[in-house]
Amino acid sequence: MSAMSALVRVCAVLLPLLLPAAAVKNCHPRCRCEVENFGLFNSFSLTKVDCSGLRLGPGPIPIPLDTAYLDLSSSSIQTLVDSMLTGPGYTTLVGLDLSHNFIAGVSRGAFAGLRYLETLDLSHNNLQGLTSGSFVGLPLTDVDLSHNRIHELRLDVFAIRGHGRPINVDISNNLLTAVIWNPQARPPNLQSLNLAGNQLRTVPQLQGVPLRYLSLDGNPISVVKGNAFVGLSTLVHLSISGLPDLHTIEPQSFSDLRNLQVLDLSNNTNLRSLAPEILSGLESLQELNLSRSGVASLPVDILSYLPSVRSVMLKDNVHCWRRRRQGQFHRQIGTASSREEITCGAMGVAV
Ligand SMILES: *[C@@H]1O[C@H](CO)[C@@H](O)[C@H](O)[C@H]1NC(C)=O
Ligand SMILES: *[C@@H]1O[C@H](CO)[C@@H](O)[C@H](O)[C@H]1NC(C)=O
Repeated sequence: MSAMSALVRVCAVLLPLLLPAAAVKNCHPRCRCEVENFGLFNSFSLTKVDCSGLRLGPGPIPIPLDTAYLDLSSSSIQTLVDSMLTGPGYTTLVGLDLSHNFIAGVSRGAFAGLRYLETLDLSHNNLQGLTSGSFVGLPLTDVDLSHNRIHELRLDVFAIRGHGRPINVDISNNLLTAVIWNPQARPPNLQSLNLAGNQLRTVPQLQGVPLRYLSLDGNPISVVKGNAFVGLSTLVHLSISGLPDLHTIEPQSFSDLRNLQVLDLSNNTNLRSLAPEILSGLESLQELNLSRSGVASLPVDILSYLPSVRSVMLKDNVHCWRRRRQGQFHRQIGTASSREEITCGAMGVAV
């Protein structure tokens, strides 16, 4: 290590200690409040409040004005009532961590005031479902509902359809048709949804949600139906791992997922085979994980179904990868055939 880099390291360690800690107004004595300044001349600041581990009463805990991130994890919360997340400081929240509580119920208006909330962590609670409309009007992009007891998730949690005042009445042909529209029901903007470790028996219908990441790991789903992922063309990473009951994936299940790059089907011990038709449509797929599953071989013509694939893990951790086919030359001198193949590791299955 050069003297210069040693000096840089020492400064990096000491500088935060030398700077006076910014006093944060209205910080509850048992929370830790922190203001991060950034931008030219520190003109922007971000307030983070960590009240984790605090046993909360029924009322809202006071937090500084302009709080962006609030951690209320492990706080023994059982029910989220309407008044709990209200007051100064709450309206500016961008991220909220409510994980590792005992939350079994969320009243419909509990999140209503959090109109800038993008990231919500409700993992490791006791939720069986969510009241319709609970998340309406929130600009949520990232929601973690993993490790609850959810057996059904309906899209109307995020947006109410067919609810609200009629704004357009068409009386042509004496046929009264009311087009019902709710001005607050913006379509959800959700990009990441974690539903791992719940009680879902079917893939929830999430058509039209612009998801990029979805996890359904560890749910008691036994069949993935042919239309399960319809309309999820923005999905990049899909994880369906550790489903002890999963035995069938119907053909065309993934046919809309043309932007999917990673598909994790690992640890599904009762999934015994993968028909090629299951893989149709996955034109961007780069990684397929079937390790610890019951699938030991790949369809012979896998590259015609997965033209972008780079790596496949099979049962017993056999690794397969893409390479240019060796020793084949076109008649024209010097131009090697660009045909490629999938080769599997030592214990691999010839394909
Ligand atoms: C495999 O799945 C089982 C059943 O869901 C789960 O208990 C286990 O933790 C998973 N193993 C790994 C390595 O993910
Ligand atoms: C494949 O899945 C196994 C089991 O869930 C996991 O341990 C491994 O990291 C995954 N491999 C890749 C390349 O994602």
